[in-house]
Amino acid sequence: MCGIVGYIGKRSACDILINGLKRLEYRGYDSAGVALNYNAQLTIAKQKGKVAALEAHICNDVSHDAVEKACSGIAHTRWATHGLPTEENAHPHRDNSGRVALVHNGIIENYAALRKQLEKKGSSFSSETDTEVLAHLVGSFYSDDLLGAVSEALKMVEGTYGVAVLANDSPDEMIVARKGSPLVVGMGSDESIIASDVSAIVAHTQQVIYLQDGDVARISATGAEIYTLDQCVVDRNISSVEWEIGAVEKSGYDHFMLKEIFEQPSALENTIRGRLDKVQGTAVLSGLNLTPRDMASIKRLVIVACGTSMHAGMVSKYLFEGLADMPTSVEQAAEFRYCNPLVGADDFVVAVSQSGETADTLAAVRESIQKGALVAGLCNVVGSTIARETGRGIYLHAGPEIGVASTKAFTAQVIVLLMMALKFGRRRRLSREAGLMISREIEQIPAMIEKVLEQNEAIAKIAEKYAQVEHAFFIGRGILYPAALEGALKLKEISYIHAEGYQAAELKHGPIALLQESTPVVALLNDIPGKEKTLGNVAECRARKAPVLGIVTEGDLATAESVDDVIWVPQCSVYAAPIISVVALQLLSYHIARIRGCEIDQPRNLAKSVTVE
Ligand code: F6R
Repeated sequence: MCGIVGYIGKRSACDILINGLKRLEYRGYDSAGVALNYNAQLTIAKQKGKVAALEAHICNDVSHDAVEKACSGIAHTRWATHGLPTEENAHPHRDNSGRVALVHNGIIENYAALRKQLEKKGSSFSSETDTEVLAHLVGSFYSDDLLGAVSEALKMVEGTYGVAVLANDSPDEMIVARKGSPLVVGMGSDESIIASDVSAIVAHTQQVIYLQDGDVARISATGAEIYTLDQCVVDRNISSVEWEIGAVEKSGYDHFMLKEIFEQPSALENTIRGRLDKVQGTAVLSGLNLTPRDMASIKRLVIVACGTSMHAGMVSKYLFEGLADMPTSVEQAAEFRYCNPLVGADDFVVAVSQSGETADTLAAVRESIQKGALVAGLCNVVGSTIARETGRGIYLHAGPEIGVASTKAFTAQVIVLLMMALKFGRRRRLSREAGLMISREIEQIPAMIEKVLEQNEAIAKIAEKYAQVEHAFFIGRGILYPAALEGALKLKEISYIHAEGYQAAELKHGPIALLQESTPVVALLNDIPGKEKTLGNVAECRARKAPVLGIVTEGDLATAESVDDVIWVPQCSVYAAPIISVVALQLLSYHIARIRGCEIDQPRNLAKSVTVE
């Protein structure tokens, strides 16, 4: 949510900042801005809309000297919280004197009270944002010690922030700080690049420091000095980013989403690699750091997650209960801390989050830790807050996900949860033979996904038939019910078609009233237990004239005859069925959105990584 990038070094900052913003645009894209520090002046350029609009504005309207010669600057791409997406509300914001400029990701919760105090002292504001209040606050403390001024200002702030601050008369430093919003410092040679995630940094260096909550750092061309807000020095490790710049490029695909759908076989191979014990028929997940005693004492699994990650968690309920006899509840993270969650020492809470930064999931993690539960994170982004705060967990290793609609993270999450269920299952009830069978099945999933991807053109053709509908339903039973929810979510978020996922039998308890010729139903009809019952529900839909598109197992001609259109998927076990079906539904949504001319990678109103409540 909101992207921040900052540069300080020997090169011209502007290009580096704009290219960095383009890499971060998936975090928010309703306005963008840059501040360049040159010749004791802060030159600020902002535009409503995408980074391309800002780039054009800089080219045409901004002083060439600053653009070419400034060697330090900060930049921001916004996802609006306080105030409309306008040029005035775009970051960077300045203080009253114009000496200080800052960019901010997060929310200053007490901004209204702070604004009143500052107004009494003579500040006048030009935007509706909480961020401008912070800029004024820093300015009010600043004389010649920018680090001290930022620290003092942040002590007065309630809420979350990742910030980067410049002062016109201090060109050799940039101050950054974080609390609740990620910030990474890239350590180049004779230059430093800071950003809200590494994708804006890897083009320049793979050596990074992940700042931690409460850190404030002075960044210069030669590195970072990191302190607490009380100015005690802290030591943070330098880490190496595992992937290279190609991972955050489209590599010939029209959209990141399509690239990420097609990456799933290789991404999942990375997720699985080294994690299956093919002698004992179990999974090796050392990051969970569970002793045999922990494994034995856990009575219940509680998944906390949002959106697509919650759907992956819902799939896992069937896996843990089916394979490990382990009672599992799946909680919407946004509700968790507001409903007296009954978790304690016997519970294993697993936070599922691609970004590892989702505010509601993080809050559920903190609540669970506080209540004494064992808590693990299942994240894709290395070094993310949830991964660090849980201190135990499993990385997806799916590579960076740039498309706002989550695709490969979902399938990787389900695979990891399946491996976890296998591990618990082997300790509780599964025989070695059963474990070996499941691990063989897991290994085959990437190849099964390849087979679904071979259907791409056929799916694109079917998409033409359904692209202009206004409403759609997705139905499934058992382990395919969360897959139906995920199919509906994918369609609505990128194509703006109103879509609902339902447990197949639930449809007749109300929603069936909406069915008509123009309202298709996508039915998950993989050849696994429950299919015959879903076919009964399909008949009910067709009797109301709703066209039915079936996700059907190859060779299952009888099922194919019961629906209007078919997307074929390979034969598989019940455990793999939600994964391969969702891949087919990802492609269906992608093609429908493409035909409708939607902005697939950056759907309206959305942003990757939701770091606000
Ligand atoms: C949907 C989507 C969102 C995220 C949700 C949680 O395509 O991307 O629903 O799944 O915001 O995000 P993470 O997994 O980063 O916690």
